[in-house]
Amino acid sequence: MNPEIRRAAEILRAGGLVAFPTETVYGLGADASSAAAVARLYATKGRPANHPVIIHFSSSENAFEWGREIPQAARKLAARFWPGPLTIILKRSTKAGDFVTGGQDSVGLRVPSHPVAQELLREFAGGVAAPSANLFGNLSPTTAAHVREELKVELVLDGGASEVGIESTIVDLSGAEPVLLRPGRISKAELEKALTSTVREKRSTSPRHSGGLERHYAPRTPARLVPPHALDAEIAKRGAAVALLAFSRPDERVAYWIRMPKDPQAYAQRLYAALRELDAAGCGAILVESPPETAEWDAIRDRLSRATK
Ligand code: TXA
Ligand code: MG
Repeated sequence: MNPEIRRAAEILRAGGLVAFPTETVYGLGADASSAAAVARLYATKGRPANHPVIIHFSSSENAFEWGREIPQAARKLAARFWPGPLTIILKRSTKAGDFVTGGQDSVGLRVPSHPVAQELLREFAGGVAAPSANLFGNLSPTTAAHVREELKVELVLDGGASEVGIESTIVDLSGAEPVLLRPGRISKAELEKALTSTVREKRSTSPRHSGGLERHYAPRTPARLVPPHALDAEIAKRGAAVALLAFSRPDERVAYWIRMPKDPQAYAQRLYAALRELDAAGCGAILVESPPETAEWDAIRDRLSRATK
């Protein structure tokens, strides 16, 4: 056993906070059965107390103990996608207190695949409440350094750069039909294939689902989405004070730019680190070239629309 993992589990047992890597983004973890630990978590993030948090487990058996009336659909998705970048919302069992569900009758459950997260969850042997390890409303961290820049946490476990790069897909199975609450690496089509039924899409702006807030996952510098055909004119209009995230190399008018991959998974993996870098460049504005309108870019368009105005 890695001594850092043992220390991390001890901190969690004592009601403290540990940041840890997952395959999607880094999480800020607390003992999900401790109201005091979860209160500390919300205070550190600056997150409103009525927002529910995702609870992480090492296995689906452990996860499902926190839900009730587990539908067959949940078992199907767990068998197909766990461990992995999927969060399933179920009706809660008595294990899930109001302080992790925002007082709702449902609970968000996830079994991450990252080996460090798995080791930690096995060693802790309980549910770990973990939102992304950033201040409320900011970009999610995809490296241990991102976490340290933004939060004061006793221990940050370093598991390298997150492989997926954007937050987990969230599917709500607590009602009569499956509803996609947040798109991610696992697509709506993949969920539908595994379930052999349709999945409804919901773009909620209700505070119950903070990832659903219109302005979330945002850099500090004002950012704008610009269609490829309008990019040239927009750069000309704004002059040198612009930082750009684009698919092709811009001309010398742009002060700072990052060229992004044309593959959506590679793009997602780099997205938050790239936005952080452009944010730090100190330009007056960030311009983001809009990605294609196809389904494989759904999750990225979702995050970009929240990061921009
Ligand atoms: O990839 C991820 O999901 C990362 C890693 C750390 O696992 N976590 C993450 O957590 O993104 P957070 O708290 O930043 O976003 C979780 C989203 C929030 O929008 C929250 O409101 C929603 O999940 N959520 C959690 N429980 C819910 C519930 N019972 N009903 C509806 N939405 C829920
Ligand atoms: Mg978050």
